[in-house]
Amino acid sequence: MSKILYAPQEKYLSSLRNEKDELILEMEQFAEDNNVPILDWNSAELLESLIVLYKPKRVLEIGTAIAYSTIRVAKNLKKKAMIDTIEKDPDKIKSAEEYINRSGYENKINIIKGDALQIMPALNTKYNFIFLDADKEDYERLFYYSLMLLKKGGVLFVDNLLWHGYAAAKTVPAKYKISASKIREFNKLFVGQHSLTTTILPVGDGIGIGIKKD
Ligand SMILES: C[S@@+](CC[C@H](N)C(=O)[O-])C[C@H]1O[C@@H](n2cnc3c(N)ncnc32)[C@H](O)[C@@H]1O
Repeated sequence: MSKILYAPQEKYLSSLRNEKDELILEMEQFAEDNNVPILDWNSAELLESLIVLYKPKRVLEIGTAIAYSTIRVAKNLKKKAMIDTIEKDPDKIKSAEEYINRSGYENKINIIKGDALQIMPALNTKYNFIFLDADKEDYERLFYYSLMLLKKGGVLFVDNLLWHGYAAAKTVPAKYKISASKIREFNKLFVGQHSLTTTILPVGDGIGIGIKKD
């Protein structure tokens, strides 16, 4: 549950939600039951809106988990567009493959198995849209690799920049201290990056959007 919005606003927005895709709802339940972190539903709606608006030909996701966002992106891609998605955890890959097969979008999704820190420097493709959603400790390195792989005019979409509210909190529980400090450092790096036009939105767990300048 997000600690970014006030509870009444969150409850109100949830009451307006109109998700009809049974697989998406099932995946949200699976993620909750099995403690799999996935994008908040309202951030996922923002992601889908940007995909519809930008019509990217090539999308890269760093951190597939069970392919919840992957499928939501794939649903909105144009005919010849594709999403590559990187995941290092074999159990998550297995679940992702099962959900992707059930989604009917397997021809739009390519899972790249392994550690993004090793995979990204070896990729030859340039992307119109990159979604960064991996271990927070690795965000800085993955951010620089993303900049290398992002086309001019392309969009970088980054989750968790308010980190359960702890990025802005004075007191942070011990288990979140290192990650909160990494996110704070990352946020400075992100908004200070000259090659991007950036914003951080208080949607879901905090979404960073960076557009690569021409
Ligand atoms: C927050 S979850 C991704 C959620 C997914 N993007 C969604 O919204 O449905 C993060 C995932 O990234 C994976 N991951 C973390 N660091 C990674 C890395 N360096 N390379 C590949 N996968 C990574 C984790 O195993 C985990 O499944």
